[in-house]
Amino acid sequence: MKFLVTAGPTREPIDPVRFISNPSSGKMGFAVAREALKAEHQVVLITGPVSLSPPDGAEVVRVVTAHDMEKATRRSAADADCIVMTAAVTDYRPARPRSRKIKKGRSELLLKLVRNPDILEQLARRKGKKVLIGFALETDNAERNARRKLHQKNLDAVVLNAPDAFNADRSSVTIYTSDGRTIRLDGASKYKIARELVKLAERFHDKIHGKDSSS
Ligand code: CTP
Repeated sequence: MKFLVTAGPTREPIDPVRFISNPSSGKMGFAVAREALKAEHQVVLITGPVSLSPPDGAEVVRVVTAHDMEKATRRSAADADCIVMTAAVTDYRPARPRSRKIKKGRSELLLKLVRNPDILEQLARRKGKKVLIGFALETDNAERNARRKLHQKNLDAVVLNAPDAFNADRSSVTIYTSDGRTIRLDGASKYKIARELVKLAERFHDKIHGKDSSS
C-alpha cells in the first residue's frame, strides 16, 4: 500500500521571530512511517518542524504552516491508499502576520486569529477507496468527542489520546473503528501503537477492496 503520514506540529507566524504552535514532537507519525516501511509499504511522510530523523526509505516533505501541510497533503493524497493524520495541526493562525518584529508597547496587544483549514475533513470529502485514520486529542468528554470525529470526518478509525502524549515515547490510547471495534492500548510504546495502526489499515484496505482478511 501507499501510506501518506502527517506528523509533528504546524507553526503559524505572528512576526519574523514568533509563532503559534503546540508541543508535538512528531514521534507518533515517525513511528507510523517506520512501521509501515517495515511492513513493506511505501511511505510519504509530511512533517511539520521536528528534530527527529526520518526512517530510511520514506519520501519526506517538510512543511511549516497548516496551509503548507494542506497543499502538500493534497498533492500526495490522490496517490495514497491510506492516510494517517497524526499531525497536530494548529487550528488558528494570526490574521495578519507582521513582516517586522512587533516591538513591545505599554498597553495590551490583541492578536486576531482566523481559522485554518481542516485538512482531514477536506481529505474525507474525497475519501473514495482510501483508508483514513485520524487522531483525537481531548481533555473533556473524550470518548464522545473522539466518536464524533470518527463520524464527522468519515474515518475508518480514530485514535483517542490525551495531552500527556505530547513528546512522550509511550502513550495510552483508545482506537475506535468505523466497524464498531474498540482497541485499548495502555502505556504502549508509540511503535506498538503504530504497528496496530498499520495492521488496522491493512484490514480496512482489504475490506474496502472486497478481499477477505479473516486469515
Ligand atoms: N486535523 C486536521 N486539520 C486541522 C485540525 C486537525 O487535519 N486543522 C486532524 C488532526 O491531524 C487529527 C484530527 O484532525 O487527525 C483531529 O484533530 P484534533 O486536534 O483532535 O481536533 P480538531 O479537528 O482540531 O477538533 P477540535 O478543535 O474540536 O478538538
